[in-house]
Amino acid sequence: MTTTEPPPAPEAAASGRGSWLNTALGANSEVAGATLANPLAAGLDEGRRAPPGVLVIFGASGDLTARKLIPAVASLARRNLLPAGFAVVGVARSPLGDEAFRDKMVAAVPSGGPAWASVVSGFRYVHGDYGAAGTMARLRAVLDEIDASRGTAGNRIFYLATVPAVFEPVADALGAAGLNRPPHSGAYARLVIEKPYGRDLAGARQLDAGLHRSFDESQIYRIDHYLGKETVQNVLALRFANAIFEPIWDRRYLDHVQITVAEALGVEHRGGFYETAGALRDIVQNHVMQVLSLTLMEPPATIDAQGIRDEKVKALRAVKILSAEQVATEVIRAQYEAGFSDGVAVPGYRQEEGVAPDSHTETYFAMRLEVDNWRWAGVPIYVRTGKRLPKRVTEVALQFQRVPHLPFRAQETRELHPNALVLRIQPDEGISLRFGAKVPGQAFEVRDVLMDFSYGSAFAEEAPDAYERLLLDAMIGDPTLFIRSDEVLQAWTIVDPILAAWAGRDVPLAQYPAGTWGPKQADQLLARDGRRWRTP
Ligand code: BG6
Repeated sequence: MTTTEPPPAPEAAASGRGSWLNTALGANSEVAGATLANPLAAGLDEGRRAPPGVLVIFGASGDLTARKLIPAVASLARRNLLPAGFAVVGVARSPLGDEAFRDKMVAAVPSGGPAWASVVSGFRYVHGDYGAAGTMARLRAVLDEIDASRGTAGNRIFYLATVPAVFEPVADALGAAGLNRPPHSGAYARLVIEKPYGRDLAGARQLDAGLHRSFDESQIYRIDHYLGKETVQNVLALRFANAIFEPIWDRRYLDHVQITVAEALGVEHRGGFYETAGALRDIVQNHVMQVLSLTLMEPPATIDAQGIRDEKVKALRAVKILSAEQVATEVIRAQYEAGFSDGVAVPGYRQEEGVAPDSHTETYFAMRLEVDNWRWAGVPIYVRTGKRLPKRVTEVALQFQRVPHLPFRAQETRELHPNALVLRIQPDEGISLRFGAKVPGQAFEVRDVLMDFSYGSAFAEEAPDAYERLLLDAMIGDPTLFIRSDEVLQAWTIVDPILAAWAGRDVPLAQYPAGTWGPKQADQLLARDGRRWRTP
């Protein structure tokens, strides 16, 4: 199966139905074969119902399962969005029984209460080596039995919440056991796969080929939890449901764009993992590339899996690939030293548990990108991400050009900056527009003011957690918010030369004190262009 042009497959063709934004806009109420007579009366969320099915979690005794997946399932149950008879089967190496697994799942959701305990009562556990034929045979027997006892209709999601080393072996073993195909027509078998999706372009291609041995592209749901965030999805609503932003969203009006994914936390207890990743693999290749592609993409013809993903890939293909020489000038990598976080002294990265004392892993990354197309030519895109920065904030900031002529005296506009539209993805989700206004008084002083939209005050609805959103999409069969093969490979194509340049030569690793906005080299990257980073 080709990896660059995923073939239209039965599932992909069906996936446009009930697609998330159509549903949100009430334009399409047909979901998973069920048509609601009056979607508005039923509530649009109600229209997003999954058919009966089983969620099989490989890596069920791991951190992700307890921290994210099971709480998401519990939340779906609380909102009454799980199909009747829904079941979870945990697969892991720990020798647990059904009861012990259920106890763990109950403990993972302390606020679940008796209703949650009753949902969990149907959960099952299969223990064994991932990828072993015996494990798959036991799993198969459990699935058949659940289909018979709970009416789950042969619908199965296989969620790989394991270490990446077993992604391929599990997919192969599912294939060998015949679990890669649904037991009968009309049912589904889907594979949900977590990051990291390969360690580089070659690894991602290899993983693709490995998964495609047993699963069609239409069955594979590559997850990036950033796409499950409401405010990331809102980039599309802002851009393509409004007439006023899109016409100015280009090189004629924009000076530059800044994308920031900042974290206040350090590597916490994940030092060992982080040593093998670094900011580029951990955040840039996936989360930053997703936010970037939504910011850069052209309006899709249709808001569905194909329409959106085609445009995202096209946008990523327009991003200029850096040469090894350009990596040296356009990319900054750095590592945090001891400093302060929220006024508390914190150790440097090299002193963290599980981190080598001479580690060269970057905890900060900044880059200047150019995009070769009509919309973006000449508009630099600056991206940065880091751990142990002053605060947790993810935002996309579009800075507009200055007016061609300011008809004021210099001192009257001392406190005036170029207009900026800032999409606050988290926390304090919202959108703000900075513009100049006259300060009341006799003088004609013009100062920055903010027009602010805040999710918290505009909507009473509680936003679903990213995993909740994505799990339900996988059950419904809507891959819009999952990453297609060609997309993941293009993201690696952008990142790969940077990894190669870092591996092949002695690229400096800058330092920054914990609790600051990164190294001075990152400031210089913008100062060189006469610009500066925003302070969110
Ligand atoms: C994960 C990274 O993918 O995203 C973590 O592995 C990071 O290192 C996390 O902390 C950030 O996610 P969020 O949702 O808190 O922005």
